[in-house]
Amino acid sequence: MTNSSLNIPTDKLPRHVAMIMDGNGRWALSRGLPRLAGHKAGTENLRRVIRATVEFGVKYLTIYAFSTENWGRPPEEVKGLMYILEDVIDRELAELNKEGVQLRHIGRLERLAPTLQEKVLDAIDLTKNNDRLILNVAFNYGGRDEIVNAIQNIMKDGIPPEDVTDELVSRYLYTAGVPDPDLIIRTSGELRISNFLIWQAAYSEWYVTPTYWPDFDKEEYRRALETFAARDRRYGKVSSKEYEASNA
Ligand code: FPP
Repeated sequence: MTNSSLNIPTDKLPRHVAMIMDGNGRWALSRGLPRLAGHKAGTENLRRVIRATVEFGVKYLTIYAFSTENWGRPPEEVKGLMYILEDVIDRELAELNKEGVQLRHIGRLERLAPTLQEKVLDAIDLTKNNDRLILNVAFNYGGRDEIVNAIQNIMKDGIPPEDVTDELVSRYLYTAGVPDPDLIIRTSGELRISNFLIWQAAYSEWYVTPTYWPDFDKEEYRRALETFAARDRRYGKVSSKEYEASNA
């Protein structure tokens, strides 16, 4: 069986795609625009990418919108990114809800303005029963912070060391209950993980493109999924074909 809008067998479609939406600043710079204009264009593109994700039938999408390190950017850019989150919720929530998108947040909400925290929590509550697409918004998120937070909670819960397993740690992460990302897409060509899903990405496939985030369109998204579908995932083992051949 193939997905209707993709030429990919359904079993080769990633269940979970994660995206590092990089290059907004350079996109703006290359047009002589302020960096925030790049984030605005990036937000427009995000809307298109979410639609395409629903259409392609991918069940989980995680987007890296603001990292724990992004606080170090100029105050007006930090303020702008906070405003964008608020504005996206105000303008897009009703439509996302109608399309069956369930919003989740990963990261620490505490440092955000109380009104913004409330908006995020209300959006999560409103959409909690939707199941067409689970959209994880990583905002004030850092992979190391997530692991530190998990260790603290494991210790607070008094879990004995011998009970600490892969599965248990996964259950203490912000992404508890979400399958690990099958595919991570990074725009703007940088070859690094940038503190994103560092536990969950253990066996993720990567698609890195030089395209800046605001220009990452549906056609390139389709290509990323097709490239993924053609990969042989071995998880540290040998491919099933190779295994069968060597045992024939
Ligand atoms: C990285 O580009 C991008 C970000 C730090 C922010 C990503 C945010 C959006 C796409 C807007 C959507 C946001 C929300 C809250 C839903 P960069 O600024 O590092 O680009 P550069 O490396 O070219 O400078």
